[in-house]
Amino acid sequence: LRDSFTHIVQEQNQETVYCVRPQASAFKVAILGAAGGIGQPLALLINTSPLVSALHLFDIANVKGVAADLSHCNTPAQVLAFTGNAELANALKGVDVVVIPAGVPRKPGMTRDDLFNINANIVKNLVEAVADNCPDAFIHIISNPVNSTVPIAAEVLKQKGVYDPKKLFGVTTLDVVRANTFVAQKKGLKLIDVDVPVVGGHAGVTILPLLSKTYPSVSFTDKEVEELTVRIQNAGTEVVEAKAGAGSATLSMAYAAARFVESSLRALDGDSDVYECSFVQSDLIELPFFASRIKLGKKGVEAFISADLQGLTEYELNALEALKPELKASIEKGVAFVQKEL
Ligand code: NAI
Repeated sequence: LRDSFTHIVQEQNQETVYCVRPQASAFKVAILGAAGGIGQPLALLINTSPLVSALHLFDIANVKGVAADLSHCNTPAQVLAFTGNAELANALKGVDVVVIPAGVPRKPGMTRDDLFNINANIVKNLVEAVADNCPDAFIHIISNPVNSTVPIAAEVLKQKGVYDPKKLFGVTTLDVVRANTFVAQKKGLKLIDVDVPVVGGHAGVTILPLLSKTYPSVSFTDKEVEELTVRIQNAGTEVVEAKAGAGSATLSMAYAAARFVESSLRALDGDSDVYECSFVQSDLIELPFFASRIKLGKKGVEAFISADLQGLTEYELNALEALKPELKASIEKGVAFVQKEL
């Protein structure tokens, strides 16, 4: 954390005094579902960003204590609590990035799609409020099933006449974080150097790590490709089963979501070298939404990195074809959910 601030260092009576000089740009971030298993550690991590001037924590309950606790950290962000629907609009006014981890997580034996009935409504209602109060914000959707909740959010924004496809993101960063970790472990690589693009969607076989595009270039046996791909696809279930009914990934998810927030803030701040994978409206394949590596800029998605999809192995080409029916059905289910209510 110390390194990410600009410091004026003084020696006073043999003591070193660090004065934090705020950076020129400062952004407001809102977390909707901030008192939850993901929301709390995510709030902690975002609170440490020197790019954040205000952190708005919204939940239907229990958020006051989280905000009071976090507000004692000597970080630049002002932390404010907003509880219940009556305070939702104020939580969103003037916000640059909205992160949505609100909703129920999986229990053992459940697929992400089993969460649809509850989370679809939660996401719909929250995105309606985003459309009314901060339509220009970047929107990060974490609530599962991401393959459907992102199309739901898009339909809601369209109905409200404020849809900007460049600013709506399904957060798939955890798939990349997991792929990087597992590949580095398997191949004995320095973790910090490893980058594996993950494309498709965010559920089961729709999660497709492109191991042939791993940086640094590394070769895998067919058996390694199969094992790594299946482990990355099922990593969420690994955590759900280990937690045995107490929820799904929260800490690694918060880490991954904080990385995506920081990348978005860097892009908003004018950094011209920001790349992340995300599930977004896309023209890379025939489906309307697709996760791929994107370039982020001040206005959101600046480019799709199509090179990742060129020169794929036969295994990856087959897996890409195989994931399309499930991904298509999940997208259509999300769209239909909003349209049937018209
Ligand atoms: P949790 O149950 O611990 O927390 C959810 C929070 O949302 C609670 O504090 C609850 O009060 C709040 N909430 C419920 N309805 C709300 C509403 N209408 N407005 C605002 N807040 C509301 O769940 P957890 O573990 O934090 O997971 C949240 C979601 O994230 C789940 O849908 C889970 O499947 C998803 N997830 C997504 C991942 C991804 O990679 N995109 C990875 C892991 C989980």
